Amino acid sequence: MKSEWGALILAAGKGTRMKSATAKVMQPILCEPMLFYPLRTLSECEGVSIGVVVGYGKQEVSDYLTKEWPQVTIIEQKEQKGTGDAVKAGFHFWKDYKYMLVLPGDVPLISSESIKQLMRIHLQADSSLSFISFRIADPAGYGRVVRSDCGIRIVEEKDATEDQLAINEVNSGIYAFSTAALERYINELRCKNVQGEYYLTDLVELFQQDKERVEVLSMDGEDEFLGVNDPLQLAYATNLLRDLLVKRWMEKGVKCADPETAWIGPRVDFEGEAYLAPYVQIFGETSVGDRCSIGSFSILKDSKLESGVSVHPHVVIESSVVRQNAIVGPFAYLRDKTEIGPKSFAGKFVEIKHSKIGSGSKVPHLSYIGDATIGEDTNIGAGTITCNYDGKRKHPTKIGNRCFIGSDTMLVAPVELDDDATTGAGSVITQNVPMGALALARARQRNILGWKKRRENINNNDNGGRS
Ligand code: UD1
Ligand code: MG
Repeated sequence: MKSEWGALILAAGKGTRMKSATAKVMQPILCEPMLFYPLRTLSECEGVSIGVVVGYGKQEVSDYLTKEWPQVTIIEQKEQKGTGDAVKAGFHFWKDYKYMLVLPGDVPLISSESIKQLMRIHLQADSSLSFISFRIADPAGYGRVVRSDCGIRIVEEKDATEDQLAINEVNSGIYAFSTAALERYINELRCKNVQGEYYLTDLVELFQQDKERVEVLSMDGEDEFLGVNDPLQLAYATNLLRDLLVKRWMEKGVKCADPETAWIGPRVDFEGEAYLAPYVQIFGETSVGDRCSIGSFSILKDSKLESGVSVHPHVVIESSVVRQNAIVGPFAYLRDKTEIGPKSFAGKFVEIKHSKIGSGSKVPHLSYIGDATIGEDTNIGAGTITCNYDGKRKHPTKIGNRCFIGSDTMLVAPVELDDDATTGAGSVITQNVPMGALALARARQRNILGWKKRRENINNNDNGGRS
C-alpha cells in the first residue's frame, strides 16, 4: 500500500545567479540556511514525508540535513541537468507515495496554508498535475503561464517570445503530482531548449497531450512565491521575513522601539513581554523570558534568557543561559555554554566562555573568565583573568562561594579557590587557596625615600652644570 503524500524539495542547483561558492539553498536568511524555510513549511503539513534532492555542495547540504532534519530522506542528483532531471533522480523516493508535492529550495516565504490548499485542490479536482501560479508586476526570471485554446503551457523566460515575455502570470515552481502519472511521463522529458536542461515545467504540456488533468491554482501575493535567485532577491526575501516575524511577535506583546531595525530569526521564542531597543538581533534557537530588556546593538544566538534579564547595549550572547534577573553588559561577550546565575552580573568589557557564574556573583569590569566555575555571592575584581590555556590545553578554574578576587588577579589554571577565599590585587595565583584564606602572590612593595631629588641631582651633574 502506498502512503498518501510525500514532498520533494529540489535543492541540487548551484544557483549561478547568486555568484557564490556556497550552494544557493545554504545562503543564510536570518541566520538559517534558505533550505530551512521550505522544510519548516512542509513539516507544518501533517503526515507529509520529505525528501531533498542535493547535488551542488552536497556535503554541506547533507551535513545540515543530517544534523537538523534527521527525518528527511537525502537524494542525490549527480549532474544538475534541470528541475525535471532532479525529480527523476528522486524516483525511488516518490514511487512509494500516491501524491507528491514538488517545491524548489529557493522559495523561502511559501506558507503551509498555500501548500495545504494545493493539496486539497489536487484531490478535489482528481488532477494528475496541479501547480500554483501567481501574478507579478515584473515577471522577469519566472516561467510564464501561457493559456491558449490548446490548453496551458509553462514557457521559461529564455525560451519565450516577445509576446510571451509580456505575460505576468508566472509559475511558482510549486506542484502536486499523482505519482502514477508522473512515473509514466518523467522519462518523456527532453532537453531541447535554450538552456539544454530537462524542464519539469514541460510536463504541463505533456500531461495535457494525453488528456491527463492539469489544474492551475492561481493565487495572490507575489511576495509569498518569490523565487530567490540572486543577492538582491536574497536581501529582499530576508527583509520580508524579518517584517513578518517582528510583526507576529509585536502582536503577542513584544515591544520593539524601532520595528524596522529589530531582527528576529524564525526559531526565536518570546515567553512573554520583552523590550527590544533599536538595532537588536536575535537568532537561532533562542528563548527570551518575560520582562527581559535588550539594549541596542546586542546580538543573541542559540541562547536562553530567563525572566527579568537586562541585557545592556553592545552585548553578544551565544549558546549560553542567563538566569532570572541577571544583568549583562554593556560590552560583554558570553559564549560556549556559559551560565550566568540568577541576579548575577557580567558587566563592562567582560568575556565569559564555557563558565558557570553562581547566583548573586559579579564580574563587573574588564575580565576574561574561561572554563571556570564560580560559586554564589563572589566578587571578581576588575581586570581578573583566568589563564586557562597553556598553549596546548585548556584547564579549569574553580572559585567557591563568597570569595573576593582582588583586581587584576591572574588565576593560572588548573587552580581552585575554596569558599570565602580572598586574593590580593595584582596577584598571580598558581596554587590552590584554602577556605577563608588571603592569597598574596606579588612582589612586596619597596619605597625608596628621596629618590626623585637624588635623580634630579644626578641629571644636573651629567649636564656638567650647563642648563
Ligand atoms: C524555476 C521554474 C520556473 C519558475 C521558477 C519559480 C523550471 C524549468 N523553471 O525557474 O518556471 O517560475 O522556478 O521560482 O523548473 N534544481 C535542482 N537540480 C537542477 C536544477 C535546479 O535541484 O538540475 C533546483 C534548484 O536548486 C532550485 C530549484 O531546483 O532550488 C529551481 O531551480 P532554479 O534554477 O532556481 O529555477 P528557476 O530559473 O528559478
Ligand atoms: Mg529559482
